[in-house]
This record gives sequence, structure tokens and C-alpha cells, in this order.
Amino acid sequence: MSKKVALAYSGGLDTSVAIEWIKEATGMEVFAVSVDVGQRGESLEVIRERALKCGATDAYIVDARDEFARDYCSLAIKANAMYEGEYPLVSAISRPLITKHLVKAARQFDCDTLAHGCTGKGNDQVRFEVSIQSLAPELKCLSPIRDLSMTRDKEIAFARKKDLPVEIKEENPFSIDQNLWGRAIEAGVLEDIWRGPIPEIYNYTQDPTLDRSVDEITITFKKGLPVALDGEELDLLTLIGRISDLAGKHGVGRIDMVESRLVGIKSREIYEAPAAITLIKAHQELERVTLEREQVRFKRTVEQKWGELVYDGRWYSPLKDSLDSFIENTQKYVIGDVRMQLHSGCAVPVGRKSECGLYDYNLATYEEGDTFDQLSARGFIQIYGLADKQTAARNIEYGNINRLD
Ligand code: ARG
Repeated sequence: MSKKVALAYSGGLDTSVAIEWIKEATGMEVFAVSVDVGQRGESLEVIRERALKCGATDAYIVDARDEFARDYCSLAIKANAMYEGEYPLVSAISRPLITKHLVKAARQFDCDTLAHGCTGKGNDQVRFEVSIQSLAPELKCLSPIRDLSMTRDKEIAFARKKDLPVEIKEENPFSIDQNLWGRAIEAGVLEDIWRGPIPEIYNYTQDPTLDRSVDEITITFKKGLPVALDGEELDLLTLIGRISDLAGKHGVGRIDMVESRLVGIKSREIYEAPAAITLIKAHQELERVTLEREQVRFKRTVEQKWGELVYDGRWYSPLKDSLDSFIENTQKYVIGDVRMQLHSGCAVPVGRKSECGLYDYNLATYEEGDTFDQLSARGFIQIYGLADKQTAARNIEYGNINRLD
């Protein structure tokens, strides 16, 4: 046994205490791994130093922002990913990537165990551990809060006793997770689901009732992915960041929902995901123009399943892979521009343009220039409704139905 563990380290109280805690409980050396997925906030260099001061043998930073945008947010855009129709999977899409880098670090430092700071009540423990099972089933996993009985009070006492360089707030009002794709806030007063969210919790968005101005942006898509903003070509990481700031100014993407966790608990979470909401709304609109009717309808079902799989920690599962192939296949012609208005908390498509779209003005118009043969609709409807007509006649004959009652 290597007696070494790679810990996903955020720099907060839980994972800082976990370093020394794991060492005492298991006698293992701890390697701290911090992954930058665009969470902003404290510099990762400061976080790395803290890990070392808290007793890590070594500490390691991965700048995974580009990768997160390119390989994770991109799939969420193509899948119009919204769990339970509302949540753009902010935390859910980051866990598989963090796990991937944790596994790589484990290989580099010759660790046979991985550790994370999730509680035993949430989805994230599942996402980490199921991802590990897919990526490196030979590795063991330790969840100190869950498996080594860390509690907040014990953590604070331990941090004081060991003089750990972590900020200790007696009151920890909220649990927050944030990245490039958005921000999730839960716990504390938010657990009273009748009570509205309080202004202090927000950080990526401004109060949408304060600013009544309107901004208009044009997003250009190629094969389902945004490639330019107002005509300026940008890599996905930069583009998401810019849209996050612009839409955030208008309070776009604030979500307050009670969701169904995989572990069976209903929980209330507040999200702010200005870029995710704006981009998905725009992408969805362009799909309405460019995908064939049955493709749009069927894709919506696929998207729902995709969102559930990802929420449930199955990023690396075979079904998710297969759904990705389907989704990718639908994106070939999702090319064009969408003009979006941002105002008062909303991101609304107001214009769309696509050279390979299926919208045909001459077929759609009620004005001069109509090329649609309206007379042919008559025969179409007769045949289309024939099965229902026959059934109705049979039911009437047998006295079984009178739909007019
Ligand atoms: N409920 C969300 C999910 O399961 C977010 C989890 C993390 N939330 C937090 N505030 N720490 O994906």
C-alpha cells in the first residue's frame, strides 16, 4: 500500500481540516489537488500555500478552465442541459473534470486513495465516487466528512488546536459552489423554503429589479457551439466569461428551486448562471430554426435524460456517451446568429439568422409571395385523421363513446 492520498482541495475549512484529519486517522501522506474551473475568488496560489501550511506533503494546481469550457460546458450547451427543466448543472458538470485531474495527480504522486470533502447527504459524493469507478476503479476513495466523522464543531475545535491557517467563521451561513458555468448557494436560512432568497447571497448577478436598461447581443454559433459575440470571434472560455458579465449585469439566470437529489432528499438551492441561461436559450432557439421537426421533439427527450444522467453522477457512463453521439449528430447545421435581448432578469431571443435553417419565408408568409399549396392540406388532413375517424365510427357503432357528453 502506498499510504498516500490525493485530496480534492478547495481551500475552505472542510478540506483544510481534512488534511491533518486524514493523516491522524489513517497515517497517510496527503497530496492536495486544486482544480481551477473558473471559480474566481481566492487565487489558487494562495490556496496551494494554505494546503502546505495545513500539512500537505505537496500541493498541486491544475488550470482546467479551458478544458472545462471546451469539453464540459460545450456539451451542456449542445444538450440544452437543464435538470428538472431549471438547473443548468453547474456543479454536476464540474465534478467529473475535477475527478479526472484528481486521478491524474494520484498517478503522478503514486497515491492509491483519493479523497473529497463532500458530505454524505449530497449528489457530489456520488459524482466523485462514480467517476472514480469509471476512470480508475483500482483507486480507493475516502470521504473524511462522511467516513471519518468530521463535523463542523469538531472541525473548528481541531483547526484551533492545530492552529491551522484557515478563516473560521462561527456562523457558516451558506454552502457555496461556483465555477465558470455558474454559482450554487444552499443551506442556512435558505432551508426555510417559504422564505425568499436574500440579496447578500448573489455574486455573479445584479438585482434584476434595479436596472431597467436593455442590452442586445448577437451570438454566432457553428455546429452547435457559440464562436463569436457581436461579430468578435472568441474562444469558448472567454465567450462564456463575457456573456456571464453582460447577462449578470441584467440579473439573468437567477434560479430558486427545490430539487430532487439522487439520494432521495428534496433540497432548496439558489443558482445564478447568467451565461448558461443566455447561451442555452440562444442555442435552443437556433435549433428551432435549423433542426427538422421530429429531431427537435426527440432531442428534447434525449436532453432530459442527458441532464438526469449528468445530475446523477453518470458523466462517464455508456448511455451518456451514446446520447452525446446522438446530440453531436444533430448539431451539424446548428449554424447561424441569434440576437438576444438582456433585460430585467431575462435573456430573450429576438432575432435569428441561419443560412442552413429550415425556415422558409415563402412557405411561412401570409403575405404576397406564398408558395405553399394550401389546397394540398385538405388531402393531407383526410389521410392523417383517417385512423381516428375509423375508430370513432367503430366506437359509435358499438355505442361506446359519446365525446359530446
Ligand atoms: N444541488 C446542486 C447539485 O447537486 C449543487 C450542489 C453544490 N451546492 C452547494 N451549494 N455547495 O448539482
